[in-house]
Amino acid sequence: MTTAPAISPAHSRYTSVAIGLHWLIAVLAIGQIAGGFYFEGLPKSADAERFQLIQLHKSFGITILLLTFARLAWRLGHKPPPLPKAMPGWQKAAARGLHIGFYVLLIGVPLGGWAIVSASPLAESVKTYLFGVVPWPHLPFFDGIEDRKGLAHDIAELHEIGAKLMLGMIVLHAGAAMKHWLLDRDGVLESMAPFLARK
Ligand code: HEM
Repeated sequence: MTTAPAISPAHSRYTSVAIGLHWLIAVLAIGQIAGGFYFEGLPKSADAERFQLIQLHKSFGITILLLTFARLAWRLGHKPPPLPKAMPGWQKAAARGLHIGFYVLLIGVPLGGWAIVSASPLAESVKTYLFGVVPWPHLPFFDGIEDRKGLAHDIAELHEIGAKLMLGMIVLHAGAAMKHWLLDRDGVLESMAPFLARK
C-alpha cells in the first residue's frame, strides 16, 4: 500500500515566476548592498567613480523596487507551498516574520534611497535616468524644506541601517535554507530552487 505524500506534488514548489523573481531579486539585492558599501568606502579622490556608481545604484535600486511590487502582486494571487507539517510552530512563525520583513525592507530601503536623491539640494541639477536612458522623477515632497542637505543626510543614515538589516536577514534566511536542505532534508529549499528535485 502506498501512503499519500504529505504535500501534493502539484503544490510542492513555488511557481516558476515566483522562483525566478526570488533569485533575481536576491542577486540584485546582494549586489546592491555590496556596491553601496563599496562606493561609500571610496576616497575623496575617486568622486567621479563614486558619482557613476551611484547612478547605477539608483537604477538597480528602482529595478529592485519594481520587481518587488511584481513579486508581491504575484504572491497575493498564488498561494505558496505549505511548510512541512513537522516544522515547529516557532520556526514557521520566524519564517513568516522574515518573509514579511524582506518585503518591508525591499520596499522601504529603495523608497528611502529615492527619498535621499529627491531631498538632496543637488536634486535640481542631478536628474535621475535609469541606466542612463529612462527618466525617473524625484519625489515631490521636499520643496520648501530649508535644510534639505541635513534631511537627505538623516534619510541616508536610515537607508544604511535598512541595508545592514537586510544583509543580516539574508544571512539568517540563507542559514535557515541550508539547515532545511542539509539537516532537516524536508524539501523546503527545493521548493524554491530551480535545479534541485524535491523528494
Ligand atoms: C534594495 C535596494 C537598495 C539597497 C539594498 C541599497 C543599499 C545601499 C547601501 C548599502 C548604501 C551605502 C550605505 C552607507 O554605507 O552609508 C547605499 C547608499 C546610497 N543609496 Fe542605496 N540601496 C538601495 C536602493 C537605492 C535607491 C533606489 C536609491 C535611489 C534612487 C539609492 C540611493 C542611494 C544613495 C544616494 C546612497 C548614498 C547615500 C550617501 O550620501 O551616503 N539606493 N545604498
